[in-house]
Amino acid sequence: MAKEQKTETVEPVAEPVAVRKMKRYWRVAVIANIKDDDQPHPPGVPDDAYADFDHIETIHKLQAALESDGHETKFLMADRSLPAAVLEYQPDICFNIAEGLGGDAREAQVPALLEMLQIPYTGSRVMTNAISLDKTFTKRIWRDRNLPVAPFQEFAQGDEPLRAEFKFPLFVKPSREGTGMGVDTKAIVKNDSELRERVNYVIQNYQQPALVETFLSGREFTVGILGRADSKLYSRHPEWYDDKDGFHRLPILELDSSRSVTPQVYSKAAKSKDVGEEGAPDFTCPAIVEPDLEKKLKHLAWRAHTTLNALDISRSDIRLDEDGNPRLIEINTLPGLTPDYSDLCLQAAAEGIAYNDLILDILCLAAGRWGLLEPREIALKANKR
Ligand SMILES: Nc1ncnc2c1ncn2[C@@H]1O[C@H](COP(=O)(O)OP(=O)(O)O)[C@@H](O)[C@H]1O
Ligand SMILES: [Mg+2]
Repeated sequence: MAKEQKTETVEPVAEPVAVRKMKRYWRVAVIANIKDDDQPHPPGVPDDAYADFDHIETIHKLQAALESDGHETKFLMADRSLPAAVLEYQPDICFNIAEGLGGDAREAQVPALLEMLQIPYTGSRVMTNAISLDKTFTKRIWRDRNLPVAPFQEFAQGDEPLRAEFKFPLFVKPSREGTGMGVDTKAIVKNDSELRERVNYVIQNYQQPALVETFLSGREFTVGILGRADSKLYSRHPEWYDDKDGFHRLPILELDSSRSVTPQVYSKAAKSKDVGEEGAPDFTCPAIVEPDLEKKLKHLAWRAHTTLNALDISRSDIRLDEDGNPRLIEINTLPGLTPDYSDLCLQAAAEGIAYNDLILDILCLAAGRWGLLEPREIALKANKR
């Protein structure tokens, strides 16, 4: 016999953010980790640690972009001072680009804190930022969803037997870093002794497992994804977004590292060069590719984004294997946002999207999701009455 269903009166929860915050201009906290190139690293911390942190100039550019639409902004450092600072400032929403400090999921630290305090923020949430930092976890999920990735094996100790299916050359990198940290031409290993040496270097230097993959010898691309299914309801530029699925695919950027400071590898050293500088890779955006390959690359980046439940913005790196088939390398759910420098900003600029508009759209998409913005359709309908 079916259990008797009890009807309970549900007490209303606290006033929703939508009701509290239906205002035009917000207090926006820009949350980031800042690098100080003059500051020596503590003992045991690798030379290239903090490479993914931002320069204060980027924060100023972000603040200027947000303020250009009338919002008030304040920069908050993503360190131990953050919980108190965020409670004191009481932002309506945070623009989060913080990479975090230490632990196994540092990019998820700020989202986790803000969720606990129930403060809205831009971009992906805790689970997605934790998983996407970990390249092995990410690839396991993509593989499970039949997305093409290079064969891979994680080495936590260093002396694990290499699976028989692998053929040299292989590529070795830290499983949980970014911005080319721990990646240079020595990451390409041609035999077992080079493999062991590099795996041990990664484990010891970065205090984390080494991810070993088949070396993908083909062209390299990176593809930005903006939006989500209901972007058109909240965006300041609804025309950017696809009528069917609501996402915007930024133009594909090709990185040709053959003449760079680290040939074949988009390393930390190569990433720290300005566009056009000696030793920088050649950047081509939009990449010159066959329409079929363009479709595939954009589709893969979109699948990479949606499979991980990424939000608002991401950038996925893809390389072709020796047979010319695209393989997903990694997804950046906190892509760099330095104008005229970061890959994603180059992609936006290539199709005429101004930096301020890009930043404000990331803000509006997040604000819509957190109930700070009225959906456009509802607003339009309300005006008609
Ligand atoms: N399996 C691979 N085969 C060939 N090159 C690779 C492979 N994995 C990474 N790379 C190279 O190393 C660079 C950095 O690797 P990536 O996984 O994107 O880490 P990061 O987070 O540092 O950007 C890539 O842009 C690419 O040039
Ligand atoms: Mg990358």
